Amino acid sequence: MNKGALLYEGKGKKLFFTEDENLLISEFKDDLTAFNAEKRGNEAGKGALNCKISTQLFKLLEKHGIKTHLVKTLDDTHQLVKKVKIIPIEVVVRNIATGSLSKRLGMKEGTILPFTLVEFYYKDDALGDPILNDEHCLMLGLVKSESDLEELKRLGREINSIMKSFFSDRKLKLVDFKVEFGIDTEGNILLSDEISPDSCRFWDMDTNEKLDKDRFRQGLGDVKVAYEEVLKRILSH
Ligand code: TMP
Ligand code: ASP
Repeated sequence: MNKGALLYEGKGKKLFFTEDENLLISEFKDDLTAFNAEKRGNEAGKGALNCKISTQLFKLLEKHGIKTHLVKTLDDTHQLVKKVKIIPIEVVVRNIATGSLSKRLGMKEGTILPFTLVEFYYKDDALGDPILNDEHCLMLGLVKSESDLEELKRLGREINSIMKSFFSDRKLKLVDFKVEFGIDTEGNILLSDEISPDSCRFWDMDTNEKLDKDRFRQGLGDVKVAYEEVLKRILSH
């Protein structure tokens, strides 16, 4: 499968057409951005790490019955994926309070949430990805019906329960993560985009050391070392 014209360039990935109209090639970039791209950086090898991590996690989820856009990995930084229409909702799932949740609601960092929290954010950089409630999603026509929103929440919780136990076995706390979904030509909702330390928070089980993009966001250093550690633990058994 050969890379055709560039379809879309995001902050962490590029999407290319292929000779098959139903398939795209996704390229994982070394760029890092934070706070609506106000902070920018580049970490050689980050794209390859995220490509490997995301491939492993999508395969894990597929094994547990979650449908994804992943067809196969092509090389270190490229995946062949099904072409979908992305639902412009970032589905954020949280187990522990930190980040924007702590900031917005004044919750102490590290508070274990009484239940898994699912939030929706509008995937719109110009607006700064604002938080949405169900009625906002329906009003903006981001999904067809309330049952689609219920399905996004159900999928978010299911992905959380699979990944939480997978990472717990590897001595990592899955603090929170963001996922995106797309609709394929047959109308199926497929997990799309990526799942990586760019889009998840992982804390070491014993030390609470941050092993994710917060190292970049907060200027903690050793970004690549942390991502390598996450991959190592994913592959550990
Ligand atoms: P937040 O605490 O900044 O809202 O982030 C919640 C989770 O979502 C965290 O794991 C990081 C991820 N995330 C993204 O993947 N992309 C984004 O643009 C934002 C704001 C968060
Ligand atoms: N990825 C987002 C940005 O580039 C925000 C973040 O992850 O903090 O701005």
